[in-house]
Amino acid sequence: MVSTLVPAAALSETGEDGFVLDASTGIAASDELEGVLTWLQSALRPATGLPLHRRDGDGGIRLAIDPALAVEGFRVEVGPAGVRIEGGSAAGVFAGCQVLLQLLPPSVYRRARVTGETWRIPGVRVQDRPRFGWRGVMLDVVRHFMPKHDVLRFIDLMAMHRLNTLHLHLTDDQGWRIEIRKYPRLTEVGAWRHETQVGASRESPTDGRPHGGFYTQDDIREIVQYAADRFIAVVPEIESPGHVQAALAAYPELGLAGRSYDVFTRWGINDNVLNVEESTVDFFTDVLDEVMELFPSSYIGVGGDECPKDQWHEDPRTQERMRELGVGDEEQLQAWWIGRLDQHITSRGRRLFGWDEILEGGLAAGATVASWRGRAGALVAARRGHDVVSCPDDLVYLDYRQSDSPDEPIPVSIVLSLEDVYGFDPVPPELTEAEARHVLGGQANVWTEHMDSPRTVDYLVFPRLCALAEALWREGPGDFGDFTRRLATHLERLDAIGVEYRRSSGPLPWQRRPGIVGRPSTREEREAYIRSVVANIVS
Ligand code: ACM
Repeated sequence: MVSTLVPAAALSETGEDGFVLDASTGIAASDELEGVLTWLQSALRPATGLPLHRRDGDGGIRLAIDPALAVEGFRVEVGPAGVRIEGGSAAGVFAGCQVLLQLLPPSVYRRARVTGETWRIPGVRVQDRPRFGWRGVMLDVVRHFMPKHDVLRFIDLMAMHRLNTLHLHLTDDQGWRIEIRKYPRLTEVGAWRHETQVGASRESPTDGRPHGGFYTQDDIREIVQYAADRFIAVVPEIESPGHVQAALAAYPELGLAGRSYDVFTRWGINDNVLNVEESTVDFFTDVLDEVMELFPSSYIGVGGDECPKDQWHEDPRTQERMRELGVGDEEQLQAWWIGRLDQHITSRGRRLFGWDEILEGGLAAGATVASWRGRAGALVAARRGHDVVSCPDDLVYLDYRQSDSPDEPIPVSIVLSLEDVYGFDPVPPELTEAEARHVLGGQANVWTEHMDSPRTVDYLVFPRLCALAEALWREGPGDFGDFTRRLATHLERLDAIGVEYRRSSGPLPWQRRPGIVGRPSTREEREAYIRSVVANIVS
């Protein structure tokens, strides 16, 4: 059998006949694997129509933990007597179940009974373990709201690709997407904007059409539980001290004196920032308390990126406050703000997670850095002893255009091809072995300014996310030719699910956005920009 697994896994043939699922097949598992067993039944039943009851004893499918395997490692053995799926933990068994699905015909992913299919699994032995513990995606549900139903679907697609961390970007200038009981105006006001910029140029028009949405606390609990059942941690992100205009529209007293705000209707960085009064620190720590109650994740995101310093520089009260605090400049003021959030998060037994700008002006020891501006942040953070999640824009920003064709919808930044993403290595080669141990893994970032529906998210994310998942799972550089061969079968799986991925031939007519202006750049232009913005952390 030629492997069609994505991500790849070490596979060998046993020479045996394999196994056919039929009406007599049962699934056996110990009680600690009951959740995985229930999931596997729910995954296999719709297309096969088989009962697959829980049944102890030999034969059929057997799930077991083997502590000798790595925590997320697995072993799948298929022979005439049945299927045995073992993992170092329930998470490893679950990964093995994902492999089992990929060993079956792609139609197993359909949601209603498929007639005329034989559910044959070839005689194989597959064993593997992931290289990294953080295999993630950041999903921006602010710029365009993603309905809960589609977030759950996205989680299923992550699980299929053995990804384990969903970083949810919940607040920004253009919206506030999570209910906070103590501050209801955050969603009453902050979850809605009057209209939306269409296109990526400063001159782009707005559409005159309101947009919004938010998750209730019950929705969040459902998302978190749904992800946990699939061994995916959800890391929430509440942005500050910039990217806060939706919060300012709801509670203008959080901003600088004498200003009023609307939820932002345009893209790009804007100047509006928080004031740094104790009452504003209290507001954000209150918000974080409700967030930490909802999200059990070890990591709590605070954003921290792209905070313009002009308003702080010009505001007399902020300058007075800086003198009170003994803070020398606005960069250090940002570090003071992040430090206050860090103290609060750390006191609750969690760890602060923020974009690499939080390295400006110094950072508390336990903080973890998402390195996005090339790999400068990863180098600086790891060398200073911080844990790092690599997400360099030039390799894993899935909003970037997929080819240089003028047909790409609203093309932004550089061309980021499937092969570019496939080549991603989260560990910069300049790091020593000890420094490299700070790299927890990597994630793709899905910014949705120009993805106005889940259909467009499908187009930008797939199949590049398949390449990303393999890059984070495998040891070594991988083989892109082999990946593209396996991908041919994998796309049949995505077709069965109904994922509107980008064809290698380019966008289908309805995936184009003729006449809507993008903002493409060359690699040289982008590199010059990144060099200029990371100068203050590199020096
Ligand atoms: C970012 O892309 N502003 C983190």
